Order: sequence, then C-alpha cells, then structure tokens
Amino acid sequence: MSDAIDLAALPHDFLWGTATSAYQIEGAVAEDGRSPSIWDTFSHTPGKVDNDDHGDVACDHYHRWREDIDLMRRLGTNAYRLSVAWPRVVPGGDGPVNAKGLAFYDELVDALLEAGITPSVTLYHWDLPQVLQDRGGWPERATAEHFAAYAGVVADRLGDRVTHWTTLNEPSCSAWIGHLEGRMAPGLTDLTAAVRASYHLLLGHGLAAQAVRAAAPDARIGIVNNLSTVFPASDRPEDLAAARRHDGHVNRWWLDPVHGRGFPADMREVYGVELPERPGDAETIAAPLDWVGLNYYFPATVADDPDGPVPYARAVRLPDVPRTGMDWEIDASGIETLLLRLTDEYGARKIHVTENGSSFPDTVGPDGTVDDTGRQDYLVRHLAACAAAARKGAPLAGYFAWSLLDNFEWAYGYDKRFGLVHVDYRTQVRTVKGSGHRYAEIVRAHREGGGDRRAA
Ligand code: IFM
Repeated sequence: MSDAIDLAALPHDFLWGTATSAYQIEGAVAEDGRSPSIWDTFSHTPGKVDNDDHGDVACDHYHRWREDIDLMRRLGTNAYRLSVAWPRVVPGGDGPVNAKGLAFYDELVDALLEAGITPSVTLYHWDLPQVLQDRGGWPERATAEHFAAYAGVVADRLGDRVTHWTTLNEPSCSAWIGHLEGRMAPGLTDLTAAVRASYHLLLGHGLAAQAVRAAAPDARIGIVNNLSTVFPASDRPEDLAAARRHDGHVNRWWLDPVHGRGFPADMREVYGVELPERPGDAETIAAPLDWVGLNYYFPATVADDPDGPVPYARAVRLPDVPRTGMDWEIDASGIETLLLRLTDEYGARKIHVTENGSSFPDTVGPDGTVDDTGRQDYLVRHLAACAAAARKGAPLAGYFAWSLLDNFEWAYGYDKRFGLVHVDYRTQVRTVKGSGHRYAEIVRAHREGGGDRRAA
C-alpha cells in the first residue's frame, strides 16, 4: 500500500517524526517542582473531561522516556516533536527557574540526539501555569511577556543542541476552544476574553521568537496552526459567506498576522471586539518565520447560522462519508490543499506537517498485535496527499505523525487513542500497532529509495 505514496517527491533529508505533548504523556504532575497548569485544574474539575480522566500519570513518560526513545528507534524515525511544560521550568509562571524541570528536557534532548533523532521543541502546548491564569491568563498582555521570558530560558539551555523550535501549538484551540467554547482549559465562554487571548497568544509568539533567536542564533523558528479546508453547505450566498467567516475564524485569523497582513478586517468586524493593539505589535507578531507547521485532521462544511455563536457558521454533518473514532470526517485531499495554500497564498518557504493522525478504538488482540487498519489507511492516504503536494511544489520538509503514543486526549480523556503505539494505562505496557509497523516500512522505503536529492 505504501506504493501509493510518491516517496521520490520528498527530499532525501526529510524529517520522519512522531509528535506528543507534555501534559498528554508526561504524568508526574507534582514531581521535581512542577506547579499545576490550567489543565490540571480543568481536568480535576468534575464533569469537564470524559470519565473525569486527568494527566496525573498519563503515559508516565517522565519516568519511561528512555523506553519511549527506544520505541522511536524501532519505528526508524529520525525526528521527534515534543513540548516543554512551562510549569516544570518556571513554576511561578515568571521568575525563578526550576533546575530540575529544565534538567529533564536537557537529558531527553541529549538522549534523542544520541539515538540519531532530531528534536523539534514546542514551547507552548496548552499547559499555562495556573498561577498565571489566576492573574488573568492569555487575555492579559503580561502573559505574552512572561511566555517570552520562559522561552528565552529554555532556548538558552537547549539552543546549543536544538535547532527546530515551535512557539505555539494550535493557538486557535487555546483561544477559541479554551476561552469561547469552554470545552478546554481554562473553560471560559467569553468572546472578549477569547479575542484578547488570541491577540496575546500571537504577540507571545512574536516575542518568544525574538527571545529564542537572541538565546540561540541557529534556531529555526515556526508556529504550528491546525487548519481546515472549509466548504459551504450550499451555493446560497449566506452559506458562502458563512464559509468565508469560518475560514477567517480557523485559518486566516491565525495565518494573516504572522505573515505580515495584520488581523483580517472582516473578522474584526465579525468579533466586534477591540484588539489590545499597541504600536510595534504588528511587526513583532510578524517576526520572520523559518518554517510553518501544519496540523491537519479534517475538513469543515458549514452553513449560515445567524443566531448561533461566533462566527455564525454551523458545522454540517455530511452523511455517508468515512470518519475516525472522533467522528471527524476523513478527507486526505485537505492536507494537499492546505500545503499548497500555505505555499501559494502565504509564500511558505518551508513547511512541516507537525501533526496528522486518527483515533480509533484499538485493542491488543490475543496474539499481542494491534490490527488498526483504519489508522493505516488514514496514514497512507494522508502521506500520499503530502507527497502529491510536494510534487506540485510545496516545500514540505517533514511529517510528524500524531501521535507516538496513545495519550490523554484532552476533554475526551484516555478513550480516544491516536498512537502508533498502544498504551495499556493500567500496566504502562507499550505495543507497536500495525500503523507503527506500516510507518516504519514507509520511512525505510524512503530512506532506501533515496528520495528527492534536493535537500529540504
Ligand atoms: O491531541 C491533540 C493535540 O494535542 C493537538 N492537536 C490535535 C490532537 C488530536 O486531537
């Protein structure tokens, strides 16, 4: 089936990776000086997460990371996207650095490099120190400034070995799901707070990029957005306008400012919230990017919804289309479209697919294997679409499968499994799934085939 992927279209030094994030896998939430994050608070609030699951232990990666690096070796991957937990490194949100927290990542990075695996480090994957939330969180400008200071601390320590840096993971989820829809930490449903949070997240991105560059001159900095292809439910002008608004909400609001175009005027109007802009911010937010990260999972079809919530575009559930265990529609052509959009419309010079993957309710069979055909199919189809985009000129330099391990899937808890490796949460036994073996075969085939001789 990997024949379906035009591997020769991918550069010979392509990054074949897996991705995780700190709160979703580490556990050890009260160890070695880590302070609570907004996700500790949220997940321990009854009713917020399915089964009242939380990340207290998760995959116990904090203690089992050596075993997890061995798994990466078995998959044959040459890159790994991890996130650093701000509350481990600067437990007070700002101020004193926790040496033990920093030492954990220091050792992890050394071990990855020793295993021939390039670390790609994300500075913020949603785990804001709770102390900063208590002082207002992302709706406050100070949070962006504290984020930059923390980013500088991490870059100062790891920047001699880490070159790939991501400031923020999926800021739209932090702002919209966390502050508008309330389905993620900090669980607010306040449009003004959400718009202010979106602004300060992007300001934090720009300030952090400056801080990382100052501490680590070789740093290659990107931002990771989760983007969707957006389709109108019909040709009615109202639905076309709704699709434009939805695109503005999930895509353009996040892409335009970092590409120097400012916040989209149509969406400013839709939100009707004054942005906390100060002179110079627009330039800070548009700090030059060395690469952009695309997380792609599903497309969206929307209809006009004048009485619904911002952005007045209601998701329409298409009948008879394939779906993952998240009930997300499967449409691999979306990743190709978005890679080409980043290339053609935004002039991306280098792109990493920083997340892509699927959840299915896997079980370990009596013979000890996990036969996840749905995920294998999803993986191959999406990789084929990535290669097709590369063939058409998208400067794709890496692909990171979400996720290395089954892990804490936020408000869905542990029932949703995205891993290439199955985790038995009772015993912490890891089992490479069929998709993990399939990924290893693809990586090997690319390596043996040589790939495009141009460097990424
Ligand atoms: O698990 C998440 C990840 O943390 C961010 N991107 C989407 C994944 C699947 O929902």
